Amino acid sequence: MLAAASAPALAQGAKPPACTPGRVTPAQTEGPFYSARAPLKANFRGDAKGEPLVLEGVVLGPDCRPVAGAWLDFWHADAQGAYDNSGYRLRGHQFADADGRYRLETIVPALYPGRARHIHVKLRAPKGDRVLTTQVYFPDDPGNARDGLYRPELVARRTPGALAFDFVLGG
Ligand SMILES: [Fe+2]
Repeated sequence: MLAAASAPALAQGAKPPACTPGRVTPAQTEGPFYSARAPLKANFRGDAKGEPLVLEGVVLGPDCRPVAGAWLDFWHADAQGAYDNSGYRLRGHQFADADGRYRLETIVPALYPGRARHIHVKLRAPKGDRVLTTQVYFPDDPGNARDGLYRPELVARRTPGALAFDFVLGG
């Protein structure tokens, strides 16, 4: 049953998760625009107009095994580069499925001064008390090279119809 559920996800062109045991996803600053208590929402498309984007992948533990039910809290700028700091547009949390998979349907955030294009996220294992705060970057974004926060380990990979990024949580 588990294998049957996993097969279609890999058939979409995604590579199996790249994971080296113990090599956790680097943390990044949350920046000035995090809002706690964002609603349960995995589809931001109704929040703002923009080019559709899917970000999907797997949440893994330090042993490279999927973290079922992991909490992911995403937020990012709109197509004009603005964050919603009074409401929850382009903000929402979701939980990874039984295979550790998550999927965010949203729009492409704009560039804003001084930054590469990026999506913020916080993650936590269901029984964990440690939160990983990080950012995901876009492949081939010319802003990457100019952004002092950019790290190549945090670039999503392009798959047919989506960007993919697998997070590896620490112990
Ligand atoms: Fe940001």
